[in-house]
Amino acid sequence: MNPLIEQLQHILGAAHVLSDGNLEAYEKDWRGRVRGRALCVVRPGSTDEVAAVVKACAQAGVSIVPQGGNTGLVVGSIPDETGQQVLLSMQRMNRVRHLDPANLTVTAEAGCVLQRLQQSCAEQGLLYPLSLGSEGSCTVGGNLSTNAGGTQVLRYGNARELCLGLEVVTVQGDVWHGLTGLRKDNTGYDLRDLYIGSEGTLGIITAATLKLYPQPAAQLTAWAAVASVEAAVQLLGLAQRELGAGLTGFEMMGQFALSLVDKHFPEMQVPLWRDHAYCVLLENTDNESQDHARERFEHVLEQAIEQGIIGDAVVAESVAQARKLWHIRESITLAQVQEGLNIKHDISLPISSIAAFVAQAEHTLVQAIPGMRLVNFGHLGDGNLHFNVQAPEGVDPAAFLQTHEDAINTLVYDSVKAFDGSISAEHGVGSLKVHTLPHYKDPVAMALMRRVKDALDPGNLMNPGRVLS
Ligand code: FAD
Ligand code: MLT
Ligand code: ZN
Repeated sequence: MNPLIEQLQHILGAAHVLSDGNLEAYEKDWRGRVRGRALCVVRPGSTDEVAAVVKACAQAGVSIVPQGGNTGLVVGSIPDETGQQVLLSMQRMNRVRHLDPANLTVTAEAGCVLQRLQQSCAEQGLLYPLSLGSEGSCTVGGNLSTNAGGTQVLRYGNARELCLGLEVVTVQGDVWHGLTGLRKDNTGYDLRDLYIGSEGTLGIITAATLKLYPQPAAQLTAWAAVASVEAAVQLLGLAQRELGAGLTGFEMMGQFALSLVDKHFPEMQVPLWRDHAYCVLLENTDNESQDHARERFEHVLEQAIEQGIIGDAVVAESVAQARKLWHIRESITLAQVQEGLNIKHDISLPISSIAAFVAQAEHTLVQAIPGMRLVNFGHLGDGNLHFNVQAPEGVDPAAFLQTHEDAINTLVYDSVKAFDGSISAEHGVGSLKVHTLPHYKDPVAMALMRRVKDALDPGNLMNPGRVLS
């Protein structure tokens, strides 16, 4: 037997070191684009075990790929094809360690599934606001390592802004005990911010202390139809002015994106999509009452209709109806999977430039690739679009990607750059964008990132080939 596997079995017990059997769930990425092969999968149950695994791997010169729920969309959480890497799954470290209602914080282990954390907090009348379509599987550690966004960023910020403290196993196998619940602490470099968004390339997050909010008195959802991106942006401005911090969600969905949901999940009964170029999902959170929330929301929508910004709108009458509307939005990704492999773009732009960007980039794509189908949707309130490209009707998606993916990426990313945007708003770099990033990111920033990586991980043992090549 491989001596490292033997040593890892000694540390964790044989049951928690998997080296044969079907490891596909750990080795294949969520989109089914890539399947790697691990030397073994280890499932530590404590921070000390993670540290011992890291030390053993470092001694053997073997690299580690950390994995949470494996829902990442940029091929960052699976091993490469060499069969030499150790896949470190955090799934067993899933406890909510401590909830402090007076401090409005919760400390949870990295493998805790987001939805479970949300539920534990809700049971205490508290809100952990991070919310993503993958929340039934993604984990606290994965969320922080990717600095995940989702549908509540507009009000509460992304994962980074919700994190106060971290516990991290460094590349050397030391434990940084940084689980503070302090909102103010200016005692040197912000190591927490360095690890957040580092996609497992600088160390392993084993636990985090996160910010909570009181559960609001009411949350109302509306679905509005608009004729253009310009109109959606106008509606955003109006809703922000009228609702202020009450506006907690603002998502835009293009007609083709919704047609895919209608096609693959007809039981969802997508409203208003047939006659309008875009639909918008708005959420109004209110700390007073349901009636107060409805009154303010209806006032916004009435004004929007009067000003000709929206064509039509529905306000959910119940929590169940609101859930259905959100479920439609969150099913766009799955509808795309049903339609076949596609080219994903996860971009951000200044909101003031979004309409011009969409017009220009869509025009360029239509000219270059006749028949391509644009799945344009996303978190408009954050200036973040999922500007995805699906193969023309009847064209084999895999062949389409093979031929056109690089050219399409260049067209879209050049446009993003021209409008001062970012090529990754929330999914990260992984290995999918690792060779693209240097073309679009400031060279000095790239060089500094390289120096940070070399300083913290001189042997390139932590998720090599991700973020930096
Ligand atoms: P994984 O996929 O397991 O890992 C992601 C990265 O983090 C990898 O690089 C991995 O090595 C690293 N990592 C994982 N855990 C640790 C750890 N403990 N320590 C160090 N590194 C670690 N993302 C958004 O931002 N917004 C969305 O709205 C959104 N919606 C999605 C909807 C669907 C249907 C799907 C499938 C994905 C969506 N995602 C979204 C992407 C994905 O769910 C997020 O990136 C999520 O945060 C990943 O969490 P995970 O636990 O699955 O991490
Ligand atoms: C979303 O917002 O639904 C996601 O980030 C997933 C996607 O891009 O498909
Ligand atoms: Zn998203």
